[in-house]
Amino acid sequence: MKAIVLHGSPRKNKNSDTLAESFLKGLNVRQRNDIQHFYTNEMNIRPCQGCESCFAPLEHYCATEDDMQQIYSAFIDADIVVFATPMYWGYMTAQMKAVMDRMEAITQYFKGKIFVVLITYRHHCESTVAFFKRVCPYFGVDLHVVTCRTMDDDEKDLPISCFPDKLEEAYQLGTTFAR
Ligand SMILES: Cc1cc2nc3c(=O)[nH]c(=O)nc-3n(C[C@H](O)[C@H](O)[C@H](O)COP(=O)(O)O)c2cc1C
Repeated sequence: MKAIVLHGSPRKNKNSDTLAESFLKGLNVRQRNDIQHFYTNEMNIRPCQGCESCFAPLEHYCATEDDMQQIYSAFIDADIVVFATPMYWGYMTAQMKAVMDRMEAITQYFKGKIFVVLITYRHHCESTVAFFKRVCPYFGVDLHVVTCRTMDDDEKDLPISCFPDKLEEAYQLGTTFAR
């Protein structure tokens, strides 16, 4: 299996990255898979300019030449695309949203992919989950979602290591794709 991991958090190795790591451990349980990581916060990815170059029937390319081009080629080759993001102000992070918008150029490659959406949050994650649930069937994507609330009932932030059941859920999901 070829997988790419799009990391949406600016906080490396924290909650959403750790959830992704658990998924990957499960995915690699039988053999190491080909996995490429993209830390979107460290990449030069301009927001979509709405130029509609990618709407041209035969072209389907994005006119903006930046680091998104690396994601395009890896995405096209990938079987599994992992979106690991915290919630920021009611949605995925701006870094991940910029990547999502730029995906407009390659939606013809979505069909048959497995999307694994891993979300960490304090209060709500429904908006982002609902977005993926709406678009994935339309594009023929097989969607899997794991969410983890990283806060206790007294509204105190806790690291994701305090939620081993969620890490296990991500791990188990990974094992279902292990070859
Ligand atoms: C600027 C900012 C905005 C946030 N907005 C939300 C939000 O709207 N809803 C929510 O549930 N959590 C929100 N959070 C909490 C994070 O989603 C949560 O702490 C998450 O576990 C962080 O993941 P990370 O460790 O991968 O960065 C916000 C955190 C920050 C820093």
